[in-house]
Amino acid sequence: MITKSTLRDPALAEEGWKKIQWIADKMDILNEILKEYRAEQPLAGKNVAICLHLEAKTAYMAYVIKELGAEVVIAGSNPLSTQDDVAAGLAAHGVEVHSWYGSTTEEYKSHLNKVLDSEPDLIIDDGGDMVEALHTERTELLDKIIGGAEETTTGIHRLEAMEADGTLSFPMMAVNDAKCKSLFDNRYGTGQSTWDGIMRTTNLVVAGKTAVVAGYGWCGKGVAMRAKGLGAKVIVTEIDPIKASEAWMDGFEVMPMKEAAKKGDFFITVTGCNDVISKEDMQVMKDGAILSNAGHFDVEVSKPDLNELAVETAEVRKNIKMFRLEDGRKIYLLGDGRLVNLAAADGHPAEIMDMTFALQLSSLLHLNENQDLEAGVYKIPDKIDNMVAEYKLKSLGIEIDQLTAEQQEYINSWEN
Ligand code: ADE
Repeated sequence: MITKSTLRDPALAEEGWKKIQWIADKMDILNEILKEYRAEQPLAGKNVAICLHLEAKTAYMAYVIKELGAEVVIAGSNPLSTQDDVAAGLAAHGVEVHSWYGSTTEEYKSHLNKVLDSEPDLIIDDGGDMVEALHTERTELLDKIIGGAEETTTGIHRLEAMEADGTLSFPMMAVNDAKCKSLFDNRYGTGQSTWDGIMRTTNLVVAGKTAVVAGYGWCGKGVAMRAKGLGAKVIVTEIDPIKASEAWMDGFEVMPMKEAAKKGDFFITVTGCNDVISKEDMQVMKDGAILSNAGHFDVEVSKPDLNELAVETAEVRKNIKMFRLEDGRKIYLLGDGRLVNLAAADGHPAEIMDMTFALQLSSLLHLNENQDLEAGVYKIPDKIDNMVAEYKLKSLGIEIDQLTAEQQEYINSWEN
């Protein structure tokens, strides 16, 4: 596959394969599923196209899908999240890869199109770019597609909009909304990996500083919780009154961004919306404020506004761009405003992505077994969600209680 692939440097394969093997050992659920299905080869004869952040955990899932019989072709889902060594390592072990770190918009689109040239039967998408390309530029491929699975909140919002206007032409499983995804990946995964990205890039102390977290969905909750654990004073900004109340009761200060902007040392946007931090906010920020984003697209911190206000810019270190304003204040943007946990770190921890990718893989198996599903966005069946949780507990060596027959009867009856 290395010959067919589009790689920055195939010579990085050995280093990349070591990274993949390190995490492969920690992904117990994927390994259980592989053990259970390997002999059966349930995906034999199927082409699987993947568009995901191409780091070691993703690579291992792609490898497992190949081991279950599929031909697998993969592109990265963000120009800054592909790790070139991992891409080369995966390509050297039977998966076709089209991706490299720092791709231009043109290269990113061309890589995605090369993946689609494989004429997929099943797809995995992260953020909706592959589904968009299929419904716009590559409509000739739509009829062959059995279905796919979507990883993120942003991607599911896009799919729901397509479903509402009748455009979506195959079934898509909403992996993001499964309990074993949102409660763990979005909260503990984003919480840990976002601070990992900020800390390893800046090498600055968090304790005692003020962290402003924009958005209090599952991801925002995780980022705020970990900020508190690191000793920061945490301010949450929200537009939803219920989530804002929840943030307050969780012990955080809540205020509009224009107020929080004056107080923050670190800013993290996790909303899925554009222009969450804009010119008015930047104008009142402290000298040295550090801005970062953990939402899917690089639109949450307004880069046009930062550029407009700056009289000087400089790449002061890899993944840190400085914007000097007219009055001399400096504001820093991490990872070009793209997902800081992937652009400036390795993404979520292995044991977390193990749960998410077990859902992804189970979704593909489910679609393959149920090829008559209508076009639409589908909830992950409880059976799959519970199975992943059970595998997780098994891998942790944890047993839980079972209802007795009497308890079962009691909770199912309405008479006391
Ligand atoms: N690694 C692979 N995909 C990821 C995602 N969506 N978020 C964080 N880490 C990841």
